[in-house]
Amino acid sequence: MEKRELLHEGKAKRIYATDNSYYVVQEFKDTISAFDGAKKSVMAGKGEINNEISCYLFEYLNNYQIPTHFVQRLSATEMLVKKLEMIPIEVVMRNIAAGSLVKRYGIEEAKVLDYPIFELYLKDDERHDPMISESFTFALGHCTPEQMRFINRITSKVNAVLKSLFDRRGLALVDFKLEFGKMDREIFLADEISPDTCRIWDKKTSKKLDKDRFRKDMGDVEASYRELMRRIMNMPPEKE
Ligand SMILES: Nc1ncnc2c1ncn2[C@@H]1O[C@H](COP(=O)(O)OP(=O)(O)O)[C@@H](O)[C@H]1O
Ligand SMILES: [Mg+2]
Repeated sequence: MEKRELLHEGKAKRIYATDNSYYVVQEFKDTISAFDGAKKSVMAGKGEINNEISCYLFEYLNNYQIPTHFVQRLSATEMLVKKLEMIPIEVVMRNIAAGSLVKRYGIEEAKVLDYPIFELYLKDDERHDPMISESFTFALGHCTPEQMRFINRITSKVNAVLKSLFDRRGLALVDFKLEFGKMDREIFLADEISPDTCRIWDKKTSKKLDKDRFRKDMGDVEASYRELMRRIMNMPPEKE
């Protein structure tokens, strides 16, 4: 597979064409951003960590018959993925109250929800990703009701599979954001699954191991990302 021209550069990744029109290279950058790009920084090694975690989790989900865009890991910072027509919607699922659930709805942080919450946001940084409803996505032609049922089902399955994996690693999956894309009329889980897009806490200590450390200036961002990678991927502890 030959890497060709840059097709898209986002806040955290670059998408490159390949010599095969069905595939693109997704390259992870070392930039870290929050609040729709308003807060930005560079974190050496972050591209590698997020690529390794995403490759691991996509492969894991593929083994559970979840249709993802992941084809193979190409290098420390690159993966080969199916080229999709992205649906400009952020799908969020929550198990434990955090973030906007606390800020907007006054729910107590760390409250374990009786049932997972499924939310949809329009992917539009300029408008700060406004929350939308399912009928909004049909009305604007982003997807059909049948495709939305599929997205909902896949998101619930991702939640069940990852919650159980993380639980075995002593981690709590608080919430996560997914993006989906289409190839013909088929839907695939795309983008990334990483500490940038999930909230993950240590089960015993409740230590935050995700991008909230950067958002809230809690320090140890890189060490926490690295610890999370080693724990998710079941790697031996780092030598001094
Ligand atoms: N399989 C795919 N095919 C095409 N585009 C994709 C695929 N997976 C993710 N993308 C898109 O590539 C971009 C990834 O870069 P990112 O830095 O996350 O962008 P953004 O700043 O828009 O979130 C996003 O726009 C994402 O929707
Ligand atoms: Mg993104």
